[in-house]
This record gives sequence, C-alpha cells and structure tokens, in this order.
Amino acid sequence: MKRLRVAVLTHPTLVPPESREGYSEQEAHVWKTEFDVVATLRELGHDVRVLPVANELTLIRETVEQWKPDIFFNLLEEFLGRQEFDHHVVSFLELMQVPYTGCHTRGLILARDKALSKKLLAYHHLLVPKFAVFPRDRRVVRPKALEFPLIVKSLVKESSLGISQASIVDNDEKLRDRVAFIHQRIGSDAIAEQYIDGRELYAGMMGNARVDVLPVWELLFENLPPGAARIATAHVKHNPDYQERRGIFQQAAEDLTPALRQQVINTSRRIARILDLDGYNRIDYRLSEDGKLYFLEANPNPDLAASEEFASAAEAAGWSYPELIERILRLGLKR
Ligand SMILES: Nc1ncnc2c1ncn2[C@@H]1O[C@H](COP(=O)(O)OP(=O)(O)O)[C@@H](O)[C@H]1O
Ligand SMILES: [Mg+2]
Repeated sequence: MKRLRVAVLTHPTLVPPESREGYSEQEAHVWKTEFDVVATLRELGHDVRVLPVANELTLIRETVEQWKPDIFFNLLEEFLGRQEFDHHVVSFLELMQVPYTGCHTRGLILARDKALSKKLLAYHHLLVPKFAVFPRDRRVVRPKALEFPLIVKSLVKESSLGISQASIVDNDEKLRDRVAFIHQRIGSDAIAEQYIDGRELYAGMMGNARVDVLPVWELLFENLPPGAARIATAHVKHNPDYQERRGIFQQAAEDLTPALRQQVINTSRRIARILDLDGYNRIDYRLSEDGKLYFLEANPNPDLAASEEFASAAEAAGWSYPELIERILRLGLKR
C-alpha cells in the first residue's frame, strides 16, 4: 500500500502517549485502542495525525482543507459527550466527501437503536429476544407476553454503560427501579429484553458489499461469584483487575457443531445486509441452553485494540494486526 496521510479521529482524553512505559494496565486500558492503531499506522509507514474531537468540527474541516488527508481513521465513540451522536460526525465526513474507515452513517443509525435493529431482523425472521421499550416520559407498563427474567439496558448507549448484575430483574418492582435508573443515571430511554441464559458469542465481519465473517469468538467467565449471571457488565469489559480475579477471557468458541458455525456465518451476513453495515463490524449473540442463536446487538466499528475480540478473531483467521489495520483502510478507500 502506498504511504497515506491518515487523520485519526479520537476523543481528546484518548489521544495516546508515544510510549506505554510508566502506565499501569488500568491506565493503558483507557487508550489502548488508540495507541495500537496509531502505532501500527506509523509502523506501516503512513503519515499520521491524531485529531482530538469532542465538541466541534472545525478541526476536521481545517484538516481537510489544509492537510488534505487521504482518509480519516474513525475512532470516535461520542460527540458532545453523547455516544449516540457518533454518526453525525460521519455524516459530516460524508458531506465533506472525504474517505473514512468503518461503517457509514446509515449502518451506524440502524445498529445504534437496540429496538429498531431487532424489529428489522425480526421482520426477516431472525431470532431476537422479546423486548419492550420504556421511553423517559412514560409509565412503565410491562406487556403481558414479556416474561421475567428480563435484562434492562439503555436503548442506545454502548460499552455496557449501565449494565451490572442488577440489570437482570425478576419482578415488576425491580423492573421499574432499573428502568428509572437508566432514565435518570444513564440519561436515555430504556429497553427490557428477555434474558437469554447461555453462552456469549461474537462474530466479527469485514467487508463492504462482500463480507468475510471471522472465526466465532466467545467471552468466558470462569470464576464469577456463586449466583452471578454470565453477562458482559461494565466491570467485565473495562476493569482489568476484575477480569483477572473473575477469570474473564475471550477465545475461539469451542465445541460448536459445524452446522451452528455455518449458521453464525450465514446469519451474520444477512444481518450485515439488513442493517446495511459496511467496513468492520461485530455481532453479539447469545446461544441459549437449548441451542438457539439469539441476536443481541450489532456493533459497527467495534473495539480494535490488539488484545480485544475483533483483532484476536482476525488473527485466528490469519490477519496479523498490521494487515487488519491496512485492510480497514482499504475498505474505507474503496467505498
Ligand atoms: N437479552 C439478553 N440476554 C442475555 N444477556 C444479555 C442480553 N442483553 C444483553 N446481555 C448481556 O449484556 C451485555 C451488554 O449488552 P449489549 O446489548 O451488547 O450492550 P452494549 O452495547 O453495552 O454492549 C451483553 O454482552 C450480554 O452479556
Ligand atoms: Mg455488546
């Protein structure tokens, strides 16, 4: 690949240092994705500028006009402090007519809303947990068909914001409390979903029109306290000490039948088409005790840290980390 001018978009607090030295694991956890991507782009010989973007777009416009990057590497996860505003920045890049990595605006919007995405997939007869949405200004009335246990989440936030063991509720009073928690503390509408006990599987995907599905990946919980549900809470995702203590790790999913593996591949490709995902994406599934594959959510632009699920699955598929990053650039340039 020829040397490119790559402008990396990231939140100002996540601009990575030159070196990891002197930082604790917990400190490095915060910007490890940005660190890995920027260091790898430089290793690949590209000319890299990191653009801190939080509340305004001037820097992007000036960079387009003055530095003329070949592509933006989009690592932004929020704008104006809101995760659900990420697609607005991508719209701006589209209006500026500059190439960028990852998913386009429409895919970001369809995947963002945990109810909308499920409605679209259910229309196409894919299996999704039953659910109800509880908007902020409305009373919590549970539809009769929606039986406990339920898991209560934000309708639009990600990275397990607001998800803990208390998210799983088994009566109407707890449901109301947890919905109120999402409304007040997380500041968004809430969704309550049928809780699917079972294994947590991920399928990474890469491609625009033609999609490659990466090996099926699994999140494992070896040492949770008795009675704790095996779910990816905020601690599970973001606390390295907790991960260590509780035996949380990810690896290639073992003991799946060939038929089930094929089902994950076919289902993931269909989801990419229905939700109009391009670039690189990860679908989260739950495999119930009775072997049914439930869609949980689609993650356009999933975490790219070298140690996380997506890059690990890519590596198992034979893509070294630098190859993965280069492929993501190519997909952005080709769109
Ligand atoms: N319906 C469900 N049944 C079982 N577990 C769930 C369900 N929904 C969410 N979870 C658990 O909570 C985690 C986070 O939920 P998810 O919808 O993926 O939100 P986020 O966007 O924060 O990742 C999942 O990875 C899974 O472990
Ligand atoms: Mg998820």
